[in-house]
Amino acid sequence: MKAERVETVAAIRARVARARGRGKTVALVPTMGALHTGHGELIRRARSEADFVVVSVFVNPIQFNSAEDFELYPRTLETDIDFCGRFGADAVFAPSAREMYPEPQLAFVEVSSLGDSFCGEFRPGHFRGVATVVAKLLNIVQPDRAYFGEKDAQQLAVIRRMVADLNLPIAIIPVATVREPDGLAMSSRNARLKPEDRAAAPLIYEALQAAARAVAEGGAPEKAKRAGMEVLARDPRFQVEYFECADPATMKIAERISGPVLILAAVWLGGVRLIDNILCGQHRSN
Ligand code: PAJ
Repeated sequence: MKAERVETVAAIRARVARARGRGKTVALVPTMGALHTGHGELIRRARSEADFVVVSVFVNPIQFNSAEDFELYPRTLETDIDFCGRFGADAVFAPSAREMYPEPQLAFVEVSSLGDSFCGEFRPGHFRGVATVVAKLLNIVQPDRAYFGEKDAQQLAVIRRMVADLNLPIAIIPVATVREPDGLAMSSRNARLKPEDRAAAPLIYEALQAAARAVAEGGAPEKAKRAGMEVLARDPRFQVEYFECADPATMKIAERISGPVLILAAVWLGGVRLIDNILCGQHRSN
Protein backbone atom coordinates (compact mmCIF):
# COMPACT_ATOMS: atom_id res chain seq x y z
CA MET A 1 0.00 0.00 0.00
CA LYS A 2 1.26 3.47 -0.81
CA ALA A 3 1.01 6.16 1.87
CA GLU A 4 -0.52 9.39 0.65
CA ARG A 5 1.81 12.40 0.60
CA VAL A 6 0.21 15.47 2.20
CA GLU A 7 1.98 18.82 2.32
CA THR A 8 -0.34 21.36 3.90
CA VAL A 9 -1.91 21.80 7.31
CA ALA A 10 -5.35 22.22 5.72
CA ALA A 11 -5.00 19.01 3.68
CA ILE A 12 -3.85 16.79 6.57
CA ARG A 13 -6.66 18.19 8.74
CA ALA A 14 -9.16 17.32 5.98
CA ARG A 15 -7.78 13.73 5.69
CA VAL A 16 -7.93 13.24 9.46
CA ALA A 17 -11.46 14.73 9.63
CA ARG A 18 -12.60 12.29 6.94
CA ALA A 19 -11.13 9.34 8.86
CA ARG A 20 -12.75 10.56 12.08
CA GLY A 21 -16.07 10.91 10.24
CA ARG A 22 -15.87 7.20 9.55
CA GLY A 23 -15.32 6.52 13.24
CA LYS A 24 -11.59 5.80 12.89
CA THR A 25 -9.01 6.33 15.65
CA VAL A 26 -5.92 8.31 14.66
CA ALA A 27 -2.22 7.80 15.46
CA LEU A 28 0.71 10.12 14.79
CA VAL A 29 4.37 9.12 14.46
CA PRO A 30 6.51 12.29 14.36
CA THR A 31 9.87 11.91 12.57
CA MET A 32 12.50 13.91 10.75
CA GLY A 33 12.73 11.35 7.94
CA ALA A 34 15.76 9.31 6.80
CA LEU A 35 13.66 6.46 8.13
CA HIS A 36 15.16 3.21 9.41
CA THR A 37 13.87 0.08 11.15
CA GLY A 38 13.66 1.97 14.49
CA HIS A 39 11.14 4.37 12.98
CA GLY A 40 9.50 1.37 11.29
CA GLU A 41 8.80 -0.18 14.68
CA LEU A 42 6.96 2.99 15.79
CA ILE A 43 4.86 2.91 12.61
CA ARG A 44 4.18 -0.81 13.00
CA ARG A 45 2.98 -0.28 16.60
CA ALA A 46 0.81 2.66 15.51
CA ARG A 47 -0.66 0.53 12.70
CA SER A 48 -1.58 -2.24 15.14
CA GLU A 49 -3.22 0.14 17.63
CA ALA A 50 -5.06 2.73 15.49
CA ASP A 51 -7.19 2.85 12.34
CA PHE A 52 -5.60 5.82 10.58
CA VAL A 53 -1.84 6.31 10.84
CA VAL A 54 -0.08 9.57 10.00
CA VAL A 55 3.73 9.77 9.88
CA SER A 56 5.11 13.30 9.88
CA VAL A 57 8.43 13.91 8.13
CA PHE A 58 9.79 17.33 8.93
CA VAL A 59 13.38 18.38 9.57
CA ASN A 60 12.59 20.97 12.20
CA PRO A 61 14.94 23.96 11.91
CA ILE A 62 14.24 25.31 15.40
CA GLN A 63 15.64 22.25 17.20
CA PHE A 64 19.07 22.42 15.55
CA ASN A 65 21.90 24.29 17.25
CA SER A 66 24.04 24.65 14.20
CA ALA A 67 23.02 25.64 10.69
CA GLU A 68 25.55 23.14 9.35
CA ASP A 69 24.00 20.21 11.26
CA PHE A 70 20.59 21.24 9.88
CA GLU A 71 21.90 21.43 6.30
CA LEU A 72 23.69 18.08 6.62
CA TYR A 73 20.64 16.25 7.97
CA PRO A 74 19.75 13.53 5.42
CA ARG A 75 16.61 14.20 3.36
CA THR A 76 15.20 11.13 1.61
CA LEU A 77 11.48 11.92 1.28
CA GLU A 78 10.63 9.71 -1.72
CA THR A 79 12.19 6.63 -0.08
CA ASP A 80 10.58 7.58 3.23
CA ILE A 81 7.11 7.66 1.66
CA ASP A 82 7.62 4.14 0.23
CA PHE A 83 8.95 3.00 3.60
CA CYS A 84 5.87 4.38 5.41
CA GLY A 85 3.58 2.60 2.96
CA ARG A 86 5.36 -0.70 3.55
CA PHE A 87 4.86 -0.35 7.28
CA GLY A 88 1.17 0.42 6.76
CA ALA A 89 0.96 4.20 7.26
CA ASP A 90 -2.02 5.89 5.60
CA ALA A 91 -0.57 9.38 5.17
CA VAL A 92 2.82 11.08 5.27
CA PHE A 93 2.57 14.68 6.39
CA ALA A 94 5.65 16.37 4.90
CA PRO A 95 5.20 20.13 5.17
CA SER A 96 7.72 22.72 4.03
CA ALA A 97 9.39 24.96 6.62
CA ARG A 98 7.21 27.78 5.28
CA GLU A 99 4.07 25.76 5.89
CA MET A 100 5.08 25.01 9.48
CA TYR A 101 6.51 28.46 10.18
CA PRO A 102 4.74 30.96 7.88
CA GLU A 103 5.83 33.70 10.29
CA PRO A 104 8.81 33.61 12.62
CA GLN A 105 7.67 31.50 15.58
CA LEU A 106 7.01 33.69 18.65
CA ALA A 107 5.18 31.16 20.85
CA PHE A 108 7.32 28.38 22.32
CA VAL A 109 6.79 25.43 24.63
CA GLU A 110 9.45 25.15 27.29
CA VAL A 111 9.48 22.18 29.67
CA SER A 112 11.77 23.76 32.21
CA SER A 113 14.41 21.77 34.12
CA LEU A 114 13.58 18.47 32.34
CA GLY A 115 15.00 19.86 29.14
CA ASP A 116 17.99 21.65 30.69
CA SER A 117 20.22 18.71 31.69
CA PHE A 118 22.20 16.23 29.56
CA CYS A 119 21.38 16.83 25.86
CA GLY A 120 19.75 20.15 26.82
CA GLU A 121 22.98 21.34 28.43
CA PHE A 122 25.06 20.54 25.37
CA ARG A 123 22.41 21.62 22.86
CA PRO A 124 20.85 24.79 24.34
CA GLY A 125 17.31 25.41 23.10
CA HIS A 126 17.09 21.94 21.53
CA PHE A 127 14.21 20.66 23.66
CA ARG A 128 12.34 23.96 23.37
CA GLY A 129 12.45 23.44 19.60
CA VAL A 130 11.38 19.80 19.95
CA ALA A 131 8.51 20.53 22.36
CA THR A 132 7.30 23.41 20.20
CA VAL A 133 7.22 21.44 16.95
CA VAL A 134 5.66 18.40 18.61
CA ALA A 135 2.96 20.63 20.16
CA LYS A 136 2.29 22.08 16.69
CA LEU A 137 2.14 18.61 15.09
CA LEU A 138 -0.19 17.32 17.83
CA ASN A 139 -2.47 20.33 17.31
CA ILE A 140 -2.41 19.97 13.54
CA VAL A 141 -3.16 16.22 13.42
CA GLN A 142 -5.03 15.91 16.76
CA PRO A 143 -4.32 12.18 17.10
CA ASP A 144 -5.62 9.90 19.85
CA ARG A 145 -2.14 8.45 20.28
CA ALA A 146 1.39 9.52 19.40
CA TYR A 147 4.45 7.25 19.32
CA PHE A 148 7.97 8.09 20.51
CA GLY A 149 11.14 6.00 20.88
CA GLU A 150 12.84 5.28 24.19
CA LYS A 151 16.09 5.75 22.26
CA ASP A 152 15.59 9.48 22.88
CA ALA A 153 14.71 9.08 26.55
CA GLN A 154 15.03 12.73 27.51
CA GLN A 155 12.90 13.79 24.55
CA LEU A 156 10.26 11.26 25.63
CA ALA A 157 10.31 12.64 29.19
CA VAL A 158 9.98 16.22 27.93
CA ILE A 159 7.03 15.33 25.68
CA ARG A 160 5.24 13.31 28.36
CA ARG A 161 5.54 16.21 30.77
CA MET A 162 4.40 18.74 28.15
CA VAL A 163 1.30 16.65 27.40
CA ALA A 164 0.54 16.23 31.12
CA ASP A 165 1.15 19.86 32.11
CA LEU A 166 -0.82 21.27 29.16
CA ASN A 167 -3.66 18.72 29.49
CA LEU A 168 -3.36 17.58 25.89
CA PRO A 169 -5.88 14.74 25.36
CA ILE A 170 -3.37 12.45 23.65
CA ALA A 171 -1.82 9.16 24.82
CA ILE A 172 1.97 9.17 24.47
CA ILE A 173 3.14 5.64 23.67
CA PRO A 174 6.81 4.76 24.30
CA VAL A 175 8.49 2.22 22.01
CA ALA A 176 11.59 0.23 23.05
CA THR A 177 14.89 1.04 21.34
CA VAL A 178 15.52 -0.99 18.19
CA ARG A 179 19.15 -2.12 17.90
CA GLU A 180 21.45 -3.53 15.25
CA PRO A 181 22.42 -7.18 15.87
CA ASP A 182 25.68 -5.97 17.50
CA GLY A 183 23.78 -3.79 19.98
CA LEU A 184 24.22 -0.35 18.40
CA ALA A 185 21.00 1.65 18.69
CA MET A 186 19.62 2.41 15.23
CA SER A 187 19.96 6.06 14.27
CA SER A 188 19.95 8.14 11.11
CA ARG A 189 23.42 9.28 12.17
CA ASN A 190 24.96 5.77 12.07
CA ALA A 191 25.25 6.06 8.29
CA ARG A 192 27.72 8.92 8.79
CA LEU A 193 30.19 6.68 10.72
CA LYS A 194 33.37 5.60 8.93
CA PRO A 195 33.64 1.78 8.74
CA GLU A 196 36.23 1.56 11.55
CA ASP A 197 34.11 3.83 13.78
CA ARG A 198 30.98 1.82 12.96
CA ALA A 199 32.86 -1.31 14.06
CA ALA A 200 33.72 0.33 17.42
CA ALA A 201 30.29 1.88 18.05
CA PRO A 202 28.69 -1.12 19.86
CA LEU A 203 30.98 -0.29 22.80
CA ILE A 204 28.42 2.37 23.79
CA TYR A 205 25.77 -0.24 24.52
CA GLU A 206 28.37 -2.47 26.20
CA ALA A 207 29.28 0.44 28.48
CA LEU A 208 25.62 1.03 29.35
CA GLN A 209 25.20 -2.69 30.10
CA ALA A 210 28.29 -2.68 32.34
CA ALA A 211 26.83 0.28 34.26
CA ALA A 212 23.45 -1.46 34.49
CA ARG A 213 25.16 -4.55 35.94
CA ALA A 214 26.82 -2.39 38.58
CA VAL A 215 23.40 -0.98 39.52
CA ALA A 216 21.88 -4.49 39.62
CA GLU A 217 24.68 -5.55 41.99
CA GLY A 218 23.71 -2.74 44.34
CA GLY A 219 26.43 -0.31 43.25
CA ALA A 220 26.04 3.44 43.76
CA PRO A 221 25.60 5.70 40.70
CA GLU A 222 29.28 6.70 40.85
CA LYS A 223 30.32 3.05 40.66
CA ALA A 224 27.99 2.42 37.72
CA LYS A 225 29.36 5.46 35.93
CA ARG A 226 32.94 4.28 36.51
CA ALA A 227 32.09 0.79 35.16
CA GLY A 228 30.67 2.31 31.98
CA MET A 229 33.47 4.81 31.50
CA GLU A 230 36.04 2.01 31.84
CA VAL A 231 34.46 0.22 28.90
CA LEU A 232 34.50 3.35 26.73
CA ALA A 233 38.12 4.04 27.72
CA ARG A 234 39.10 0.85 25.87
CA ASP A 235 38.94 2.85 22.65
CA PRO A 236 40.51 6.32 22.69
CA ARG A 237 38.41 7.46 19.75
CA PHE A 238 35.38 7.84 22.01
CA GLN A 239 34.93 11.32 23.41
CA VAL A 240 32.33 11.20 26.14
CA GLU A 241 30.00 14.20 26.36
CA TYR A 242 28.14 12.71 29.32
CA PHE A 243 27.65 9.30 30.92
CA GLU A 244 25.34 9.50 33.94
CA CYS A 245 22.72 7.77 36.04
CA ALA A 246 19.56 9.87 36.19
CA ASP A 247 16.12 9.84 37.71
CA PRO A 248 13.92 9.20 34.64
CA ALA A 249 11.10 11.37 35.99
CA THR A 250 13.16 14.50 36.74
CA MET A 251 16.14 13.98 34.41
CA LYS A 252 18.45 15.00 37.24
CA ILE A 253 21.63 13.10 38.10
CA ALA A 254 20.78 10.31 40.56
CA GLU A 255 22.68 10.76 43.84
CA ARG A 256 21.69 7.27 44.96
CA ILE A 257 19.72 4.36 43.56
CA SER A 258 16.17 4.42 44.91
CA GLY A 259 13.90 3.17 42.15
CA PRO A 260 14.18 3.27 38.40
CA VAL A 261 17.48 4.60 37.04
CA LEU A 262 18.10 5.78 33.54
CA ILE A 263 21.70 5.40 32.44
CA LEU A 264 22.33 7.89 29.65
CA ALA A 265 25.29 8.38 27.35
CA ALA A 266 26.24 10.85 24.64
CA VAL A 267 29.55 10.29 22.87
CA TRP A 268 31.38 11.65 19.87
CA LEU A 269 32.92 9.14 17.52
CA GLY A 270 34.73 10.32 14.39
CA GLY A 271 32.80 13.60 14.31
CA VAL A 272 29.40 11.94 14.81
CA ARG A 273 27.39 12.43 18.00
CA LEU A 274 25.64 9.28 19.23
CA ILE A 275 23.24 8.87 22.17
CA ASP A 276 21.88 5.79 23.89
CA ASN A 277 20.41 4.79 27.24
CA ILE A 278 19.23 1.89 29.40
CA LEU A 279 16.49 1.90 32.02
CA CYS A 280 17.25 -0.29 35.03
CA GLY A 281 17.04 -0.70 38.81
CA GLN A 282 13.27 -0.67 38.82
CA HIS A 283 12.78 -3.17 41.59
CA ARG A 284 15.05 -1.70 44.25
CA SER A 285 13.43 0.02 47.17
CA ASN A 286 16.36 1.24 49.35
P1 PAJ B 1 13.79 11.34 14.67
O1 PAJ B 1 15.20 11.39 15.15
O2 PAJ B 1 13.52 11.16 13.22
O3 PAJ B 1 13.06 10.21 15.48
C1 PAJ B 1 11.68 10.01 15.32
C2 PAJ B 1 11.21 9.03 16.37
O4 PAJ B 1 11.85 7.75 16.17
C3 PAJ B 1 11.59 9.48 17.80
O5 PAJ B 1 10.49 9.24 18.68
C4 PAJ B 1 12.76 8.58 18.13
O6 PAJ B 1 12.93 8.35 19.52
C5 PAJ B 1 12.39 7.31 17.39
N1 PAJ B 1 13.58 6.46 17.15
C6 PAJ B 1 14.73 6.81 16.52
N2 PAJ B 1 15.60 5.78 16.55
C7 PAJ B 1 14.99 4.76 17.20
C8 PAJ B 1 15.38 3.43 17.57
N3 PAJ B 1 16.57 2.93 17.26
N4 PAJ B 1 14.49 2.67 18.25
C9 PAJ B 1 13.27 3.17 18.58
N5 PAJ B 1 12.84 4.41 18.26
C10 PAJ B 1 13.69 5.19 17.59
O7 PAJ B 1 13.17 12.52 17.33
C11 PAJ B 1 12.95 13.21 16.35
O8 PAJ B 1 13.05 12.72 15.07
C12 PAJ B 1 12.49 14.66 16.43
O9 PAJ B 1 13.09 15.26 17.55
C13 PAJ B 1 10.96 14.83 16.47
C14 PAJ B 1 10.33 14.17 17.71
C15 PAJ B 1 10.31 14.28 15.21
C16 PAJ B 1 10.62 16.35 16.55
O10 PAJ B 1 11.15 17.04 15.48
